[in-house]
Amino acid sequence: MNFQIKSLKDYQDAYSKSVSDPEAFWAAIADHFQWKRKWDQVLKWNFKEPKIEWFKGAKLNITENCIDRHLVDKADQPAIIWEANDPHEHHRVLTYKQLHQKVCLFANVLKNNGVKKGDRICIYMPMVPELAIAVLACARIGAIHSVVFGGFSAQSIADRIKDAQCEMVITADGGFRGAKDTPLKNVIDDALVQCPSVKTVIVLTRTRTPISMIKGRDKWWEDEIKKVETLGLIDCEPEVMDAEDELFILYTSGSTGKPKGVVHTCAGYMVYAAYTFQNVFQYQPKDIYFCTADIGWITGHSYIIYGPLAQGATTLMFEGVPTYPDAGRFWDIVDKFKVNILYTAPTAIRSLMQSGLDYVKDKDLSSLKVLGSVGEPINEEAWNWYNENIGKSKCPIVDTWWQTETGGIMISPIAGVTKTKPCYATLPLPGVQLELVDEKGEVIEENGVSGNLCIKFPWPGMIRTTYGDHERCRQTYFVTYENKYFTGDGCLRDEDGYYRITGRVDDVINVSGHRIGTAEVENAINMFTDVVESAVVGYPHEIKGQGIYAYVILNHDSDDEELTRKDISMTVSRIIGAIARPEKIQFVKGLPKTRSGKIMRRILRKIAEGDVANLGDTSTLLDPAVVEDIKNNKL
Ligand code: WTA
Repeated sequence: MNFQIKSLKDYQDAYSKSVSDPEAFWAAIADHFQWKRKWDQVLKWNFKEPKIEWFKGAKLNITENCIDRHLVDKADQPAIIWEANDPHEHHRVLTYKQLHQKVCLFANVLKNNGVKKGDRICIYMPMVPELAIAVLACARIGAIHSVVFGGFSAQSIADRIKDAQCEMVITADGGFRGAKDTPLKNVIDDALVQCPSVKTVIVLTRTRTPISMIKGRDKWWEDEIKKVETLGLIDCEPEVMDAEDELFILYTSGSTGKPKGVVHTCAGYMVYAAYTFQNVFQYQPKDIYFCTADIGWITGHSYIIYGPLAQGATTLMFEGVPTYPDAGRFWDIVDKFKVNILYTAPTAIRSLMQSGLDYVKDKDLSSLKVLGSVGEPINEEAWNWYNENIGKSKCPIVDTWWQTETGGIMISPIAGVTKTKPCYATLPLPGVQLELVDEKGEVIEENGVSGNLCIKFPWPGMIRTTYGDHERCRQTYFVTYENKYFTGDGCLRDEDGYYRITGRVDDVINVSGHRIGTAEVENAINMFTDVVESAVVGYPHEIKGQGIYAYVILNHDSDDEELTRKDISMTVSRIIGAIARPEKIQFVKGLPKTRSGKIMRRILRKIAEGDVANLGDTSTLLDPAVVEDIKNNKL
């Protein structure tokens, strides 16, 4: 498609057009897609309610854009290449034609089980091609998918299913990840005890571990496929969707205890994911593109499935983890498939960096042209290691800043076009109008200053609402600063006008690129029988970026503190999932509170960081002795 930016001048031209006439700019891009009906109006918006409508009046189906239209000239080109967890298991390739067949068949399975447009479906699956097929099959028939990452606990899944009132769950018996297999269906069984809205569970065979199958509710994926084949339900006409019909819900953590369901809609999301994919990575026909994210997160939605497929790309999907069977696995995959574009997370880079160069040295990485990073700030050491040892100093690194809520990449170099700088996401993409705001809400005009990162104008991929609670969407993103979307991130703009994200300014911790709300973890810790109160903060962690540090008050002294820590960890694991387990748990007698009873997290953060000399103003504390006690017993 020819909306490709090829030079700095193209970028500057596109950027200024996108600001001076956003509607004409996005309409010209949207013209490259397949529509059942074109829009009446490109953009209608206000940030007050908020109400954002892109391509109003247009009709389309995103799967027609991601699959059908490529059948003309790319039917036999690989759409998805899949590499199994176990390097000895044969990889799989699905051409666009095969993907089309499989998506249509499974869409018919959904229909045959009574799923209708607008129904919500929870997907809890391992990273196998059937996960992508399930997602696309939902989109094909207009069902709204809510993918839940395979590491979440039964309780977390139940909360998400109940919030979205899902009618169906798609899962697998189990999943392989590294040396472990995870009992996915068991976890779903536990979750469903709380979820009467779920009438049907479709279960893919993957690990073939023994599982329970409940008559009338649980059905094997393979049997259901056979049924529709027997009925001759092979093709499946795509449902005609309105531009602003909901495409998916994806839950993410915020400052409060309850995860919120970020809602994306069909047309704007599609245009934005595809446009940003094409430009940031400079994808060329026949390139092999490998994004190491999990489809349970937004990166997997936008840059394993929708963005690449909308552009007719070949997207590589990997079931396993970077360190299994050893820390050379990513490089083996790059070598095996001659990967051209690699998109991964700083945590993975740091952990592979620590494993040493022995795992890199005999691998042929010469196919690589572009490297990407996402999810958390990348430190200079990791950036340089990635650049020198993986990119051999000839692959531009695109450090892409964005969020579940933004739908696609917002600030990033354009590979080979924008001059990169370690730790900097550099410049906003066309259509992205950034503003840095100080504490008082005043816009900061000059360079060389830090502030809170806001966006003052809509872009097509932006969040439309939080599912079932529009007021929460307004409160979270549009109230802090009037008439602006507030990202929750702090950011520096340097003398060159380059942006560097410094991290969250709200009560969200970014652990290995995963967002975890401190309130969620506190709620889980407080469920442990002996806990009176707790406070959770993030602290710098060498590999994970941030780790979770918990201060916990017990109702009586523990006989075995180590064991109690393990019990608390297990409780968090049960309530949220293993990813939210605190790295460090310090038992304390009291928490630093203001006279009005508010916990002073700033102080706890400083202590967790080991910066006890600079606790700042403690004069508003109710009981300063508490701080001394915490400092003296720091882990
Ligand atoms: C952080 C992930 C620094 C940021 C796509 C943001 C980053 C949160 C970067 C969103 C980056 C993401 N540099 N920080 N390149 N990319 N972040 O919703 O704090 O899982 O607000 O989306 O991750 O996380 P989410």
